[in-house]
Amino acid sequence: MADMTVAYSPSHGLGEEQSIWFKLTPLLNQENPMQVLMALSEKYGGVIPINLKNQRIVLLSEPAHAERVLVSNADNYTKYFDGLRPIFGKSMITIDGALWQKIRTPQQAAFHPNMFEEYFPYLMSAIDSKMARWAKFAATGETIEMVEETWTLAAEMVCKALFDREIPFNPHFVFSQVKTYTDVMNHKSIRLKNQRGELVEMTGEDTAKAMEVWHSIPDTVMGANILEHREKTLLKMLEAAEADPDFPEFDHRQVIDEMKQYLWAGTETTALTLAWSLYLLSQHPEALERIRAEARAVCGERDPQWQEVQQLSYTRMVIQETMRLFPPIWALIRIAAGDDEIGGHKIKVGDKVVILTYIAHHSPKYWTDPEKFDPERFAPERAKKRVKYSYLPFAAGKRACIGGALSQIENTLALVQLLRRFTPEYVGPQPAKIHATVTLCPKGGLPFRIRALS
Ligand code: HEM
Repeated sequence: MADMTVAYSPSHGLGEEQSIWFKLTPLLNQENPMQVLMALSEKYGGVIPINLKNQRIVLLSEPAHAERVLVSNADNYTKYFDGLRPIFGKSMITIDGALWQKIRTPQQAAFHPNMFEEYFPYLMSAIDSKMARWAKFAATGETIEMVEETWTLAAEMVCKALFDREIPFNPHFVFSQVKTYTDVMNHKSIRLKNQRGELVEMTGEDTAKAMEVWHSIPDTVMGANILEHREKTLLKMLEAAEADPDFPEFDHRQVIDEMKQYLWAGTETTALTLAWSLYLLSQHPEALERIRAEARAVCGERDPQWQEVQQLSYTRMVIQETMRLFPPIWALIRIAAGDDEIGGHKIKVGDKVVILTYIAHHSPKYWTDPEKFDPERFAPERAKKRVKYSYLPFAAGKRACIGGALSQIENTLALVQLLRRFTPEYVGPQPAKIHATVTLCPKGGLPFRIRALS
C-alpha cells in the first residue's frame, strides 16, 4: 500500500512547526475530523502512514496496536510533548524511563483509592460553590458556557482535595488564559483568537501574557490559605520529594511543573467529560431521570455519604459512556525509539506513532450500534465481554492516567448533586460539533441555560 502524502508549509515562530497537531492540520481542519479519520482508517486497514517532508507519522486505530505501543513493547515508544512544553514544563507526564519512575513514585500514594474518602468533603464543598453559582444563573436565565463551568469546578476540586488550599485565583480568568494556548486546532492558529465571535490575529504579547498567568499559578496556590493542614496531601508529597537530599532531580522547578500538570491534566479532561455528559443527558432526558431516581433510591433527599458513592452505579456508567463517545484524550502520541512492526507495517526509529482511541471507541467491530448513547454497555456483565484495549479513555500500561479513578468519583458526585437541583438545558446547535485540539473539545463551546428544580 502506498503511504499518504500530506502537504504542509513551515510556519513562523513559537516552534509550532514541531507540533504534530500542526502537521495533521489538513486532516483535522475538516467539518467532521473524526469521520475523516475513521474513513481513512477503514480504507487503510487500521494503519495510516503519513509521509511529511522530513518525517513520518503513523496513525493507528486497532486495540491490538494500542496493546503493542502502550503495553507489550512500551519501552520502544517514548513520550512526545513538543508544543505543550509551556503548559507542562518537565512534569512527569512528559518524561520517560528511570527518571519518570522516580518522579512518579512519591506521588502515587495521593491517587490510591484509600485516599478518596479523605478527599470526599472537599469535592463536595467545590460542588456546593458551583451550585451556589448555578442558583444565580437559574434566577437570571443567562446563557453560560458549560466547559468553563466544569473546568472551574474541576480546578477547585484539585486545589481543595489534592493541595489543601482554597482556590486562590479567579478560575474563570485562568481558564481563558489556558484556552489561549490549548484550545487551538494546531499551534499555528495560536496566533488567532476568538474575540467576540471574530478571529483576530494574536500578538506575541497576548501569548506571553497567557503563559505568564499560567506560570504564576503554582506559586499563588502554594501561598494561598491552607484549608486544614492535612498531613498527607499531594502538595506535601511533592514538597517532601523536593526536601529529600537523595533526590536532587526533584528540585523546586519540578514541584511547580507537577502542580501545573495537575491543574491542566486533572482539570481539562475531567471538565470535558462532565460537560459532554451534561450535553448527552440534555439529549436523553430518560437517562437524566434515571440518575435522579438512582440518587433518590441511594440517599433519599440528603447529600450522598462517602459509603454510598459506589452504589451510584448508573451515574458512573453515564460517565463511562460519555468518555467512549467523546474521549477527552482522543489521540496518544509516542516516538519510536527503535524499529518495530505493527499491523503488518514497518515502524522505523523516529516515526511518530499516534493511537487514535476515538476510532476503536466508535468502531462497529467492538460496539453494537456504536453511535448510540447507551450507558448500559458498561453494566458489569456486558463490560466483561468487551475486547481488551477497545476502550482507552485513560490509556493503558504503565503510563496510564494516574487520576482516572479519582476523576470518576469527582464526576459522579458532580452529576448527582447538580442534577438533583438543576436541569441544565443545552441551547447550542444540534448536534454539537467536535473541535479536535489536544483534547476533544466542542466546537464553539457548549452553551447552556440553567433551570432550578422547584
Ligand atoms: C476524565 C478525566 C481524565 C482523562 C480522560 C484522563 C486521561 C489521561 C490519559 C489518556 C493519560 C495518558 C496520556 C498519554 O499516555 O500520553 C493521562 C495521564 C495522566 N493524567 Fe489523566 N485523565 C483524566 C483525569 C486526570 C486527573 C483527575 C488527574 C489528576 C488530578 C490526572 C493526571 C494525569 C497525570 C499526572 C498523567 C501522567 C501520568 C504519567 O505519565 O505517569 N488525570 N490522563
